[in-house]
Amino acid sequence: MENQALLERFQNYVDAENKIEAKDWMPDGYRKTLVRQIAQHAHSEVVGMLPEGNWITRAPSLRRKTILISKVQDEAGHGLYLYSACETLGVDRDTLIEELLSGKAKYSSIFNYPTVSWADIGAIGWLVDGAAIVNQVSLQRTSYGPYSRAMVRICKEESFHQRQGYEIMIALAKNGNEAQKKMAQEAFNRWWWPSLMMFGPSDAASAHSGQNMAWKIKRHGNDELRQKFVDMTVPQAEYLGLTIPDKDLKWNEATGHYDFGEIDWTEFNEVVKGNGPCNKQRLQTRNKAHDEGAWVREAAMAYARKQQERQAVSAA
Ligand code: 3HC
Repeated sequence: MENQALLERFQNYVDAENKIEAKDWMPDGYRKTLVRQIAQHAHSEVVGMLPEGNWITRAPSLRRKTILISKVQDEAGHGLYLYSACETLGVDRDTLIEELLSGKAKYSSIFNYPTVSWADIGAIGWLVDGAAIVNQVSLQRTSYGPYSRAMVRICKEESFHQRQGYEIMIALAKNGNEAQKKMAQEAFNRWWWPSLMMFGPSDAASAHSGQNMAWKIKRHGNDELRQKFVDMTVPQAEYLGLTIPDKDLKWNEATGHYDFGEIDWTEFNEVVKGNGPCNKQRLQTRNKAHDEGAWVREAAMAYARKQQERQAVSAA
């Protein structure tokens, strides 16, 4: 039973827009939901490297190849920032990695869809990183200090990710030949709805939104961020000459937002449960990379041990 006075002091401190740091007292539930969310976020960054990594060797030019390598490398770095932020809450990184590799841990559903053509790489940068920016700009103001600071750093790189994706879509949808325009539209059709699902279930169905908003972990609800993403993305699609794959999408003058159709939550839940098009393949690839990278971890640990021995000898 947590001390009521401590809880009240914690809530007042958060309500006054202070950042909670690792050494501060925090409710067990605050720590628990942060470990859950930051770990899933880190896992998403790492698994998110796979769909795009799949096209590095098939990029249409050296320029595109170097941009894609740089983006995928950034995602790995985002994963490391976030695992580090999670470790400040007292969890062990090896445990987090094990939970991902065993299929126990969640990561964003979006990364369980296939990248069928080069246009998917454009659609991912434009839509997936675009949605991530909407979510992560909001998370820059999260009440947990290490997470907030990781978001500030990550958001700087995300804007490059989104712009390079949109540039690919301009090359194909706006300036491309008929076949390339068709390829861009097909990719848009594949990634539009899964991108809306990235923001999570509706707030009414959200298990965590209420408490996480009270603790200022979440600064905006899932629906609000989803709507913001739709409102900013529809004009971008129209500029590309793409058709939004939603017959119910229309501008609502009264609300000043786009109304859009019902999300297929059955599809969302199936993908989250592990039954998406690429769930099994993503975990197999992750496990294979982890096994093949064992020698790197062993060499790094051996080097660290040697360094410690040398320091111990020189200190003696
Ligand atoms: N995929 C998989 N699971 C999802 C999900 C999604 N798109 N959206 C929600 N869920 C899960 C939640 O994890 C939760 O499950 P749990 O209780 O087992 O953890 C359940 O569905 C209920 O959802 P809630 O909305 O109640 O959960 P949250 O309050 O955690 O909100 C969230 C979900 C908005 C995704 C929030 O966790 C969040 O903001 N996370 C940080 C951002 C993030 O993880 N983004 C993922 C993509 S990272 C990325 O895009 C990288 C970029 O570089 C490409």
